[in-house]
Amino acid sequence: MENKHKGKFITLEGCEGVGKSTQLQLLKEYCMAHNINAVFTREPGGCEISEKIRDVILNPDNCGMSDMTELMLYCAARSQHTQTVIKPALSSGAVVFCDRYCDSTAAYQGYARGISIDTVNMLNAAAMGDVKIDYTVFMDVPPDKGFKRKGGAEKNDRLEMEEFDFHRRVYNGFKEIEKANPERFLSFKAEGTKYETHELIVAALKERGVL
Ligand SMILES: Nc1ncnc2c1ncn2[C@@H]1O[C@H](COP(=O)(O)OP(=O)(O)OP(=O)(O)O)[C@@H](O)[C@H]1O
Ligand SMILES: [Mg+2]
Repeated sequence: MENKHKGKFITLEGCEGVGKSTQLQLLKEYCMAHNINAVFTREPGGCEISEKIRDVILNPDNCGMSDMTELMLYCAARSQHTQTVIKPALSSGAVVFCDRYCDSTAAYQGYARGISIDTVNMLNAAAMGDVKIDYTVFMDVPPDKGFKRKGGAEKNDRLEMEEFDFHRRVYNGFKEIEKANPERFLSFKAEGTKYETHELIVAALKERGVL
């Protein structure tokens, strides 16, 4: 199904520290240099109310938050952000780039935390309304190769191992979503420099008429 809005909606997804924000910054510079009408935003957050919800989600005082509460807060923030920022920008014909979106919720709250994928998909769909993602730039980097981990200490103790298992499930979740959405997913191994990856992303988006 084509996005019925004029613009194009591109999301960036992947595990932590794999270079999503780095690529978004390079895309921003590219769009400015080429006079492309583009909006850059992020989740959770992206507008005033959703940034407040982000603070609730990320506040360490809220460590007692249940998985379902967390899922619903992400989707509540997404709904507000989609209706007030993403949808109007798409209607105006802009290319909207969003740092994380529905697939992160499916990978983290669904595949990694264990909430049923049907429940996650239902809430994601409610949050998106009639907005559709045109393409997802997926940084296909396994958690042990995340750039932030490069040169880091060995992860050996129980908690660190658990943390690693969690991120492994997140990665495997993304790979499942990729398999289910081969047309939408544009996957990049991000093995070269950030500039080399940037060139590949630009080429893929040009080929599809986004840039
Ligand atoms: N291709 C690359 N080669 C080497 N280092 C890179 C590359 N891309 C990004 N980096 C570095 O890796 C680190 C993490 O990148 P970045 O913050 O963009 O990741 P992220 O996916 O946005 O992380 P998070 O999920 O935490 O937001 C940064 O220090 C960045 O400079
Ligand atoms: Mg980032």
